[in-house]
Amino acid sequence: MTGGNLDIPATFAARESERDILHTRYLNEQLVRVLRTIGFDVGFKRGQGQYLYDRNDERYLDLLSGFGVFAIGRNHPTVREALRSVLDSELPNLVQMDVSVLAGVLSERLLGYLPYLDKAFFANSGTECVEAAIKFARGATGRPGILYAGHSYHGLTYGSLSLTDDKNFRGGFEPLLPGCKAVPFNDLAALERELSSRQVAAFIVEPIQGKGVNMPTDDFLPEAAALCRRYGTLFVADEIQTGLGRTGRFTAVEHWNVEPDMVLLSKSLSGGHVPVGALLTRKWIFDKIFDRMDRAVVHGSTFAKNDLAMAAALATLEVLKSERLIERADALGTRLMTNFSSLIPRHELLKDVRGKGMMIGLEFGAPKSLALKASWNVLETASEGLFCQLITIPLFKDHKILTQVAGHASHTIKILPPLMITEADCKWIEDSFSAVIAGAHRVPGAVWSLGKTLIDNAVRTRAPAREKAPAQA
Ligand SMILES: Cc1ncc(COP(=O)(O)O)c(C=O)c1O
Repeated sequence: MTGGNLDIPATFAARESERDILHTRYLNEQLVRVLRTIGFDVGFKRGQGQYLYDRNDERYLDLLSGFGVFAIGRNHPTVREALRSVLDSELPNLVQMDVSVLAGVLSERLLGYLPYLDKAFFANSGTECVEAAIKFARGATGRPGILYAGHSYHGLTYGSLSLTDDKNFRGGFEPLLPGCKAVPFNDLAALERELSSRQVAAFIVEPIQGKGVNMPTDDFLPEAAALCRRYGTLFVADEIQTGLGRTGRFTAVEHWNVEPDMVLLSKSLSGGHVPVGALLTRKWIFDKIFDRMDRAVVHGSTFAKNDLAMAAALATLEVLKSERLIERADALGTRLMTNFSSLIPRHELLKDVRGKGMMIGLEFGAPKSLALKASWNVLETASEGLFCQLITIPLFKDHKILTQVAGHASHTIKILPPLMITEADCKWIEDSFSAVIAGAHRVPGAVWSLGKTLIDNAVRTRAPAREKAPAQA
């Protein structure tokens, strides 16, 4: 498509080979160095469904899904059609002194999935939903405190960073928001100790933690919700990553029959095309915030509720339903977990497989046998968590599978496939992981030679921590 002198596809084709130069000069040079070091700089030029194509037309299976945004796959025709039709209809969009029709219809659809909630607030990203949740919780309860779980990830703006338990992200940016405190994930006694002060506005928690794919114990979420109710604290489920079918249910809290006071959604809500976020909550909470006409816009954001985001979200919900993707995530996720788990008894480096639906973590750890242990120690001394790159790099290079590590210094590889992958894709994943994990148990072998190269690289640049691939949230 062209417009005036601007031809986007021609610009992409003409400048594709310069992307590293442009980014080194004008954007984030460190990311260019990371991609080059781990060999992920293949120049992706096209995305379709669950597949990415590089500049040589090699096909890759994407198990990152853009950190979880492409649940329905890239460039889904239904979403593209919805976006085109918004543009072609010349809708008024963002009038501001008007109320949006599409936002009304989308609220109705979303709340239909969560009948215990009554109101929707739209934002432009995950972190904006978290910021809104902090403000709504304080505003509705009149209390200052916010509790979050150890090992959490809620985003990187100041409020959400104040609830993110990762010193790598927090370092250098303190002081953060006052009144925020971590309690260990799965520790109900610690939670109750904090709640009993009756100064806590909200407990914000990811039902399954993205960083590490940490699972709640079966009683944690229901009991935490009950404790919150007892002490007048709002229970907020950050479903930005787990929501919209990712775990095989519309929201992950459904696995434990929990009905939070607020549910936060984002990532895959618009099919990956337009930034969007949604906070769903109870009427009394909403009414405490928007309580008078002169406070009708007391919280909001200029681009929230824009027609493109609303239409893309409506189309995404349609696709989730018509293609039965939530059921598919449940069934194929179970298949993958069963297959991965069957690798544990034969592979001493693979310690655990956990998750639900299409959110799966494979945790690696120190081996027992002497030969492997020596190699493991050398690698981990050079840089904690480096071992996982010995899995992700061959998966990418030899098997054309895109994955990453589930957190800083983490030994867990997380997979977040599009929910629409096929049985054949599952076989591709299973065969590839099986081969690479088996390869990691051979010393000497190609995988450990790669380890030596990574260490040499780290030493040569004298910046080992920076040479690791950035971790997924
Ligand atoms: C659970 C969770 N909360 C919040 C966020 C922040 O979302 P965003 O990156 O859109 O700001 C993320 C992003 O990874 C997330 O996984």
